[in-house]
Amino acid sequence: MTDASTLLRVPPGLRWSAATAAFQIEGARAADGRGRSIWDDFVDAPGRVRDGSNAEPGPDSYHRSAEDIALLRDLGVDRYRFSISWVRVQPEGRGAASAAGLAYYDRLVDDLLDAGITPFPTLYHWDLPVGLEADGGWLARDTATRFGEYVALVADGIGDRVAHWYTINEPVSTTLQGYGIGELAPGRQLLFDALPTVHHQLLAHGHAVAALRAQGAAAVGIVNNHTLVRPASDSEADRTAAGLYDLLHNRMFADPVLTGEYPDLSAFGMEMPVREGDLALISARPDFYGVNFYNPTTIAAAPVDAPVPFEPVATPRVEHTGFGELWPIDPPSLTALLVDLHTHYGEALPPIIIGENGASFPEPDHATAVIDDERRIAYLAAHIGAVADAVDAGIDVEEYTVWSLLDNFEWADGFTQRFGLVHVDQTTSERTPKASFDWYRNLIASTK
Ligand code: NOJ
Repeated sequence: MTDASTLLRVPPGLRWSAATAAFQIEGARAADGRGRSIWDDFVDAPGRVRDGSNAEPGPDSYHRSAEDIALLRDLGVDRYRFSISWVRVQPEGRGAASAAGLAYYDRLVDDLLDAGITPFPTLYHWDLPVGLEADGGWLARDTATRFGEYVALVADGIGDRVAHWYTINEPVSTTLQGYGIGELAPGRQLLFDALPTVHHQLLAHGHAVAALRAQGAAAVGIVNNHTLVRPASDSEADRTAAGLYDLLHNRMFADPVLTGEYPDLSAFGMEMPVREGDLALISARPDFYGVNFYNPTTIAAAPVDAPVPFEPVATPRVEHTGFGELWPIDPPSLTALLVDLHTHYGEALPPIIIGENGASFPEPDHATAVIDDERRIAYLAAHIGAVADAVDAGIDVEEYTVWSLLDNFEWADGFTQRFGLVHVDQTTSERTPKASFDWYRNLIASTK
């Protein structure tokens, strides 16, 4: 067995966290007047989710948050990244806040603070109210305004005790996969006609920053999913395809926030529906820049008649996670990515927070003993080492977050992908810490 701890280099002063998201852990979809989101529609539509599951009961954190907090306290994390469900707080996506919905997060925040853990919520982790989707969803500019109003309600409710906020999680996933190719909710297949959703989500981020700052928030930022893009070969076609993929996956989401401009998107035959003042709002300097990182991506040119000009292919000679060959394990690519961000954005880049990093591996549905997840330990150790290398290279990284505290509902993959430090029996909701939980706890303790 690899003794991952001996390979580990830990960046001094790094804060530690673990993450979850509301729809992935809460269950209780009909409780206390919660409204429906696009994910409720998605999981209730037959054939959309790989194993036919619908996020219930799963970890059932709506009823078991005390167990989650006990685990977090035991782990010794500085912070907890969770998300707030828009449809618990504002069941129809408009109007007054639901007292019951807010009360859940109010209690969660108090319990975290009592446990000595800083609450670090995400305001949008993919669960758009269905009423807003009916009015165009993220294709409609008005959704950004609605988001700003919802954020103000949340800030009003818990902003006296919450100082740190992520606005929007991985806009690349919910725009391009949700509206472009339809793998995620709302399952639309508009290809490049989905690009306005990008602008509207970034605008929503801008409204959220303004609303949170007006309320006195200390630290606000977006969290983007980044990947290091490499061409499959030296051919001009593959290099061009890789450049286009990098533009769409990375730069289209980072540039407007960090530089106040979109990169040149003319290759996709679309212009963003930018109005005067939008880019100033979007690029209000964030207090941190959130980076979710899982793997690099190798890109080849797609066949001429394909709907998009690039194609992710297997990365040669590396191991992969439970998600298969498009999720290769390549920790040095995290260092390279962080260095690239620093080189590209320079002074415009605020301190980085690794908002998610982790891996799924095949594990049993029912735990009869502690799961010895040594591959996850090796993955995490190597990626923390990669962060240390970036810090050595002069990059300011403030925090590292494991995805995930718990095995949870992995979107269109249902309960088939387990990312947790803690095993969850998705039918009984029973929690059993894995070997990686002890490993992470010992690591954190060793830095205190
Ligand atoms: C990113 C998403 O934010 C999270 O919800 C998801 O479970 C992980 N990646 C793993 O795919």
